[in-house]
Amino acid sequence: MQADRTLDFDPNRRSFLSALAASAALAGPLGGLASSGALAQQAAAASALKDDAAFWNEVRGLFSHKPGVRYMNIGTAGSMPVETLNLLDSENRRMARESMSGYSNFLDQRKTLARSFGCDPDEIVMSGNTSDGMCHSLLGLVWLPGDEIVTTNHEHGGGNVPMAILQDRYGVVIKRVTLPVGNKQTAEDYVELFSKAIGPRTKAMVFSAPTYKTGTMLPIKMLAKLAQEKGIVSICDGAHVPGMFAANFHDLGVDFLAGAGHKWQCGPLGTGILYVRNKVLPQYNPRPLPAYYPVVTSSYPLAGGLPPRTTNDKETDDLAARIQSTGSRNAPVYMGLAKSCEVWDRIGRDKIQAYTISMSQHLKEKIAEKWGVDALYSPKDDPRLVCALTGFNPFRNPEHVKDKARSDAFVKRMLDEYGFVIRNVNFPVPGSQQEHYGVRVSTHLWSNMDDVDQLVDAMWDLSGKMNTV
Ligand SMILES: Cc1ncc(COP(=O)(O)O)c(C=O)c1O
Repeated sequence: MQADRTLDFDPNRRSFLSALAASAALAGPLGGLASSGALAQQAAAASALKDDAAFWNEVRGLFSHKPGVRYMNIGTAGSMPVETLNLLDSENRRMARESMSGYSNFLDQRKTLARSFGCDPDEIVMSGNTSDGMCHSLLGLVWLPGDEIVTTNHEHGGGNVPMAILQDRYGVVIKRVTLPVGNKQTAEDYVELFSKAIGPRTKAMVFSAPTYKTGTMLPIKMLAKLAQEKGIVSICDGAHVPGMFAANFHDLGVDFLAGAGHKWQCGPLGTGILYVRNKVLPQYNPRPLPAYYPVVTSSYPLAGGLPPRTTNDKETDDLAARIQSTGSRNAPVYMGLAKSCEVWDRIGRDKIQAYTISMSQHLKEKIAEKWGVDALYSPKDDPRLVCALTGFNPFRNPEHVKDKARSDAFVKRMLDEYGFVIRNVNFPVPGSQQEHYGVRVSTHLWSNMDDVDQLVDAMWDLSGKMNTV
């Protein structure tokens, strides 16, 4: 195993990184304010990326990937830094040597995560994964027959399954908006879609940001604001948010955000990051806290119930501790997750966001150049809708994207013949009778612009070879 490596980044070094971070902040991919100059700045910063190869090479050295393969499916699985692996190893051995239990609410680790994600320890839970976080969020709320959830037709099973349970168990009505695909959309379109669908019985909105199907970053802040205005609960499936975005959970204004620890954040498998709003902060979300009961917990009073939820900025109860405390847990993985978060903080979350999204923007531009902009399922021109996932139709004959076997073969051949790990995913497209099986690329901090250029060349070459009837 490689030795631990620390990143020797000089924060005072003048480089394009500050420009990159600034461009990302201006662009506001989490649904902040768009700036007309932001895209141009982002493009300039992206082209300057190669100039700081030394820094990102050092970052690449923190991981232990198999040589010869380029991993671009982080949306499915990340990869732990070596120092997290070492900690997992030593903590597992210590637990075994000392016959230790895992009864804890893991406050120390929750404090680390709270610092990383702009919230307080009583609001952040190390869940089992995103799906687990979505179950905690949805199943813990109080539902009555006829209550309605407004969601989308591009949700993951991680959210769809608990919504189906609510439907069957309580008679909750699930209403879905049809999401557009491609580059001809703006953040306002999503607000309008949801706004029109929300009715008098709507109790909550559930949306993925970004969606795993097209890599479209739904504008979290704008949608959370809409939920506040409509007086409904907002639940974000943010599986891809931790580790990709420099997110401040308070600032997002949502009630719940369930993210993965094991994807972009590169924590151990079996970890997620769940934000549960637990105080009323008027500058972010002035709405009263919804009634909530932890559903999987060992920490609930046997008589008397929970204290009333706070109406101000001081919590009346450590809700996250209640959700976190369920019997004896796998302590080393939580320590590992906190370690990966520390590594990200050391590198700089703004830089990671700017770097990973810039590579994706570069990829999107190259796809638009070679295949035409209509091949993109991910938007590229509204900076509020972009992220480090890129979904597109790789086939020269666009109809071929409806053929699952052909799409599966494309992904397999990209690995077998060119050494790139990417994936495909199916989804409905407005106006098409059949689902599309687009491919999806994740650009993370161990990739660079050369990898992206070579990926494009490989995909173009393969799409030429596969252009048969
Ligand atoms: C949008 C989205 N939600 C939920 C999940 C499920 O993630 P997990 O394995 O962390 O439960 C995924 C996994 O890819 C996803 O992309």
